[in-house]
Amino acid sequence: MMTDAALDQPRIVILISGTGSNMLAIADAIKAGQIDAMVAGVICNRPDAAGIQYAKDRDLPVEVIDHKNFTSREDFDFAMMKAIDGFAPDLVVLAGFMRILTPDFVRRYEGRMVNIHPSLLPKYHGLHTHQRAIDAGDSEHGVSVHYVTEELDGGPVIAQAVVSIDVEDDADSLKRKVQQQEHVLYPIVVKWCTEGRLLMKNGVATLDGKPIPKSGLQLSNQ
Ligand code: GAR
Repeated sequence: MMTDAALDQPRIVILISGTGSNMLAIADAIKAGQIDAMVAGVICNRPDAAGIQYAKDRDLPVEVIDHKNFTSREDFDFAMMKAIDGFAPDLVVLAGFMRILTPDFVRRYEGRMVNIHPSLLPKYHGLHTHQRAIDAGDSEHGVSVHYVTEELDGGPVIAQAVVSIDVEDDADSLKRKVQQQEHVLYPIVVKWCTEGRLLMKNGVATLDGKPIPKSGLQLSNQ
């Protein structure tokens, strides 16, 4: 049974496609009392994703919607919207959800949907970001959390964390460094959202009413 406190809490839906380590970081921050919110549901588009069992282990309600069962992106997104709306979320959190979203889907949740992307946006939209940063000879790499808009990985950046690229780094070691930062950064941003401190106004991310610079707030904790 839901308690009165739970009825008042902001509701989060988390979308995953893989391991779900960011989902777990957010769920753990909630459990530790650092975020006053509840994970109303987790939705995964890959039936073989490890994150499904991790979510079940934490008693998070999970729904699997296999994108391969749909003939068009629109039909898949329609099923996703139905499932998301069934959880009545205040916030939709994309945590390694590896699908391109249709404009209708994005518009439906605009201003209350955030994504984490493993690069210092606007650098390296899309895939293989760690290898691309190494190949480009960059000395720094990192992670960005941003609002989701119709442009892929292109919505207003909220916050970033930077890691150094050292000579001995390969894509795997760099990914590990970046993910350590992700697990700190994403719960902080989710907390701001659920407290109503973070908003998107006229396409600009604002924290406590102040516009966030285009490159986002820098939250490195190395
Ligand atoms: C994370 O590193 C996230 O930044 C990335 O997928 C990984 C998911 O890990 N997201 C993207 O590449 C989105 N374009 P997780 O399933 O363990 O949270």
